[in-house]
Amino acid sequence: MSARLLDGKKIRDQILAELAPQVHSLAAAHRPPGLAVILVGDNPASAIYVRSKVAACHELGIHSEQLTPPASISTSELLSLIDNLNRRDDIDGILVQMPLPPQIDSRAVLLAIRPDKDVDGFHPFNVGNLVAGSPGPRACTPAGIMEMLLRYDIPVEGRRAVVVGRSDIVGKPMALMLLHRNATVTICHSRTPGLAAECRRADILVAAIGKPALITADFIQPGATVIDVGMNRITDPALAARIFARRPDRLTQLAAKGSILIGDVHPVEGPEVAGALTPVPGGVGPLTIAMLMSNTVRSAESRLLAAPAAPCSS
Ligand code: GUN
Repeated sequence: MSARLLDGKKIRDQILAELAPQVHSLAAAHRPPGLAVILVGDNPASAIYVRSKVAACHELGIHSEQLTPPASISTSELLSLIDNLNRRDDIDGILVQMPLPPQIDSRAVLLAIRPDKDVDGFHPFNVGNLVAGSPGPRACTPAGIMEMLLRYDIPVEGRRAVVVGRSDIVGKPMALMLLHRNATVTICHSRTPGLAAECRRADILVAAIGKPALITADFIQPGATVIDVGMNRITDPALAARIFARRPDRLTQLAAKGSILIGDVHPVEGPEVAGALTPVPGGVGPLTIAMLMSNTVRSAESRLLAAPAAPCSS
């Protein structure tokens, strides 16, 4: 059996096409939505993600600004950058790319972003709204996964969902979103005993633990939907050769580029057992960006509605 591949780029394009007229009418009536992205230091993976986020803004007509303070920035200096963006009327969304350098108090940073400009949905106010099932911006990666399940008509209600990983960015909000759609949800993590057996119970398995090819055939119920959130860059040729022992053709990328991108799901065994699967790359990644655009447009719309009307001139 070979799994149906769930195409993140196709869903991203659908979402962006739906957002385009909203961006145009905001721009015509008022001004384009504005997103500020703060990238601290020079983490190469973060730089690639931020570049894609800024490119998506550009493509859609969203005004974007990138701030790139050095890795040595202090928490208070970063808070003052955020304070400045909080006060600006033309900025509807503020995103601080994670992870931050160790000297930065990440909690203080997330708390400093105005909840109505928190396009990541990471502020405790918005996390509280998620827990309560109240409206508000949702974390982009799990929101994108929910959108993918919906648009591929993959039933969630009454299904057993297992989320592997308990991060604030993916695992925890993912579990809550699945719960709100009436799945029976289990959260597993690095210290879960019998992880393979837990995962095998899943009709929907979300792998977000950051361990390359951890989810092998024995973790997957035949026919299950498997969502691979992992983005692991492998440079070790021996590890890559082990993973692709039966698919040596896949090693050409490693030979050409010096690295290969692998998810948390075994890229050869996963598609043999799953019923549907997100590829890496091209699965979940594009959806994160689409949902960031969606959150930014929504933020611009609701801030516009909330803004006091301009006084009439007579
Ligand atoms: N780092 C990894 N994923 C994300 C994300 O969705 N938002 C932010 N701000 N940082 C991240």
